[in-house]
Amino acid sequence: MDESNAIVIFGASGDLTRRKLMPSLYDLYRKGRLPKNWRIVGVSRTDFSDEAFQAHVEAGVKEFARSMYDARQWAEFAANLCYFRGDLTHFEQLQGVDRMLCEWEDGRQGNRLYYLSIAPNLYEQAIANLGAADMVHQDHGWRRVVIEKPFGQDLASARALNQAVHRVLDESQIYRIDHYLGKETVQNLLVFRFANSLYEPVWNRNYIDHVQITAAETVDVGHRAEFYDKVGVVRDMMQNHVMQLLALVATEPPTSFAAEAIRNEKAKVFQSIRPIRPENVAGCTVRGQYRTYRDTPGVAPGSTTPTYAAIRYYIDNWRWQGVPFYMRSGKALAAKSTEITIFFKRPPHVMFPMPEGAQLAPNYLSICIQPDEGIEFSFQAKVPDTVAEMRTVDMSFQYEQSFGAMAIPEAYERLLLDVIKGDPSLFTRSDAIELSWQLIDPILEAWQSKHAPPLSFYESGTWGPVEANELIAHDGYHWTHGCGQEGEA
Ligand code: BG6
Repeated sequence: MDESNAIVIFGASGDLTRRKLMPSLYDLYRKGRLPKNWRIVGVSRTDFSDEAFQAHVEAGVKEFARSMYDARQWAEFAANLCYFRGDLTHFEQLQGVDRMLCEWEDGRQGNRLYYLSIAPNLYEQAIANLGAADMVHQDHGWRRVVIEKPFGQDLASARALNQAVHRVLDESQIYRIDHYLGKETVQNLLVFRFANSLYEPVWNRNYIDHVQITAAETVDVGHRAEFYDKVGVVRDMMQNHVMQLLALVATEPPTSFAAEAIRNEKAKVFQSIRPIRPENVAGCTVRGQYRTYRDTPGVAPGSTTPTYAAIRYYIDNWRWQGVPFYMRSGKALAAKSTEITIFFKRPPHVMFPMPEGAQLAPNYLSICIQPDEGIEFSFQAKVPDTVAEMRTVDMSFQYEQSFGAMAIPEAYERLLLDVIKGDPSLFTRSDAIELSWQLIDPILEAWQSKHAPPLSFYESGTWGPVEANELIAHDGYHWTHGCGQEGEA
């Protein structure tokens, strides 16, 4: 039977649709990767005609799509783009969307992807309504629902949301999106570790001294203040993006590349991370806020929402026992940079003459997630024409050099295509979401209690509060920044 494929975006007038979803769908169309008989339906409360919606999307595509804008191809793409003014929390309006889709499907096998790009507090009701409107049964084609982050505010709300979602949908129909997992460089982590024989033998506590994960942004909260002030950096970046990076660095080799094999191993990492006890929170975490944050319209007066956090975790298993994992993330910092740095142990014995008290610099591997995507390995080399002076030098792999300037697609391209294909590997399973909240909850709770470390303030354009330097200096280390360049933060 002939098939039709509808992509229904709820919250279609929002920023995510304009900046990420539509430009990615346009890029997929240009590459010929959308399935046959496709149509995109935008749904939101804004009063758009089809033409006005298309013009709104076109401006976003011109600004954000990776491929060059082409008027002829845009016209072909736009011909499959329509708009429905409605609110999915209103049952009758949702039925209107269903009628519109059924009419277009016209008795064909109608596959449908529902993308919830709406306020997180509406997820439960939205999904209940999709169920009540009989829009998720799979008798005549698949029905999949993409749920944006944040998935819950804490463990209790994430559990409640999982239960609400499971009342209506089978786990295989749910795609909890974390766009970091769609980034090429993040997917490459598994390839780098497990498609090469060199790294795995040393990827453990015997050779690795410590690990740093940085997700730094130069942007401040800007016009998202109202949302951000209720969320803060830990819920916005740590519980999801940064924890996922940690899981991929620390995971055991999955038995296969199958979604469940990878997801099972990641869940085991979360199960092995040592929860931080309330009385230890002040010694293992730092919370910061950039100085001008409270002046932002939408931020509550005297808000203590952190815009910066640093956390030290340990993983209690054979591979990682005793190896500290330092994670930090913040807004309004000195550079946009997401990177993972693996520091190896220093050589056990130094046979070279060195000044009194000096130490050999450790080898380290910098995995540059973005920008300047690549991997660099830093090691010691003899400075030519000296007796035995040494300096740190790099071996470097740059995506741009190896694969060309346009090689890296937008993460959402890959993720949207995976939903259409029914591949959940790069999406978060319910247990992983709950496990990561289980780790984050005690920190957030302690930050509201007598155990809270003081809120530290930092100037915009710096590397965050000095207390974060002290956290790591206490263990004898310092943060790295600028992928591949070791330096004081
Ligand atoms: C989003 C956060 O999930 O990720 C934003 O809500 C953040 O606050 C963004 O700016 C960062 O994404 P990227 O891909 O630019 O690192």
